[in-house]
Amino acid sequence: MNRIVVSSWPFFVLLVINMGLRANTLKVIGGKRAVILGEDADLFCRLSEAEEFDQITWQKETRENSNKHNFFVIKPDGITSNVNGLKGRVLFIGNTSDYLGSIRIRNVTLLDEGTYTCIFSVSSGPIQTEMSLTVIVPPVMSVTGHVSPVGDNEVVLVTCIAAAAKPKAEVIWNTGALNKSLRWVTNSTQHANGTSTVLSQLIGLPTRTANQKQVHCVVNHCALEEERTLSYTIDIHYPPQIVNITSSQAKYFLCIVDGNPRPNYIWSRDVQPWPVSSVRIDGDSLHLLSLSSDLNGLYVCEASNLYGSTTGFLYVHTTSEISPACWVLLCLIVVASAAAIFLCSWYKNGKLPCSKVKAPEQTDQDDGDVPIRQRVTEDEEET
Ligand SMILES: *[C@@H]1O[C@H](CO)[C@@H](O)[C@H](O)[C@H]1NC(C)=O
Ligand SMILES: *[C@@H]1O[C@H](CO)[C@@H](O)[C@H](O)[C@H]1NC(C)=O
Ligand SMILES: *[C@@H]1O[C@H](CO)[C@@H](O)[C@H](O)[C@H]1NC(C)=O
Ligand SMILES: *[C@@H]1O[C@H](CO)[C@@H](O)[C@H](O)[C@H]1NC(C)=O
Ligand SMILES: *[C@@H]1O[C@H](CO)[C@@H](O)[C@H](O)[C@H]1NC(C)=O
Ligand SMILES: *[C@@H]1O[C@H](CO)[C@@H](O)[C@H](O)[C@H]1NC(C)=O
Repeated sequence: MNRIVVSSWPFFVLLVINMGLRANTLKVIGGKRAVILGEDADLFCRLSEAEEFDQITWQKETRENSNKHNFFVIKPDGITSNVNGLKGRVLFIGNTSDYLGSIRIRNVTLLDEGTYTCIFSVSSGPIQTEMSLTVIVPPVMSVTGHVSPVGDNEVVLVTCIAAAAKPKAEVIWNTGALNKSLRWVTNSTQHANGTSTVLSQLIGLPTRTANQKQVHCVVNHCALEEERTLSYTIDIHYPPQIVNITSSQAKYFLCIVDGNPRPNYIWSRDVQPWPVSSVRIDGDSLHLLSLSSDLNGLYVCEASNLYGSTTGFLYVHTTSEISPACWVLLCLIVVASAAAIFLCSWYKNGKLPCSKVKAPEQTDQDDGDVPIRQRVTEDEEET
């Protein structure tokens, strides 16, 4: 037994080498391709050696038609014919004198994706090679914000979508200064045409700190030359905060309140309205046009948006004579009274004035825990 095996070795070796050589002598060389949707796909194909051939035949099995079928024929004289499909979109870019059967498929669609076969019909029969054509689709990107009121529960702050890409896009977030307080959840769906949509949601507490902070959705995909960044500025709504009345020059006062959306301001005077000709109001500013004692009194600035309102107070006291010393005194009174009323209302309500939030539909009507001064003022206004 052993003898037979040993003596048969050289024969097998020779057979294998011979088969290998014959397979190597003449073959068709191709190459797989990956092309971006809408671009042209050049499919390379050539004979490994010079050899006469009757024709070059291209077959395909694609998403459009998964049965392998002929679609393009090239004769040795360079004459081509479309067998079926792809009319006008396929172009011979080879050279029959060079045994080059390459073609170009123009404006590639997802339906062109599949396996392509290049067949040279030579005297000994057909020889062929298969190659894949992959279509890459860049994502359609968008970022959408969700305005939310300040609160204690996590909400979706921003959504980033990289839609209908192939292969599916990678989406991450760059949350800058908020990187410790925000997290994200990403999911994806695959469509029938082979593309996928990735949806990533940025989640976190809607806090005042997060308001106006920029976050960036970063999308990566092989069809993009570089990663794409979509930025969004977080928008958190909150009621007006503490009122700050400042005076840049005597007789001119500004009511400054932090709130989102920007508060509306209403100036009024406690107990009785001011003489119309002596005071000019422009939104958040109060301008005393003269300095007479009939302008004396407690001025109220109410700042409100749809989440609530707060009030601040300015005490004006002047004698009919104008003197710089008097204005210094006035400013001191302003600061003192604002502080006093702030503390007073905190004491009375057991909470900071800024935490008093009115429901949007109640903006005209005050509820019970409003400081009496303010209610008196508003009653005056209605008359
Ligand atoms: C085809 O190949 C032959 C032989 O290499 C060359 O002479 C000829 O110019 C080529 N034709 C074209 C159109 O490139
Ligand atoms: C490419 O194909 C698409 C869909 O078939 C078509 O809408 C578009 O006009 C074509 N573009 C060119 C340059 O032929
Ligand atoms: C968060 O941001 C800070 C400063 O912007 C940076 O130093 C830190 O490395 C970031 N942390 C993470 C986990 O990205
Ligand atoms: C991805 O998340 C969105 C929003 O939460 C949801 O509508 C969708 O069904 C989710 N898709 C999958 C595949 O989970
Ligand atoms: C693939 O399908 C999705 C979902 O129907 C669609 O939005 C997208 O435009 C399609 N892509 C192409 C290239 O046809
Ligand atoms: C009030 O506004 C002025 C000017 O903007 C500022 O300097 C001051 O710190 C503010 N005061 C408070 C209590 O916010």
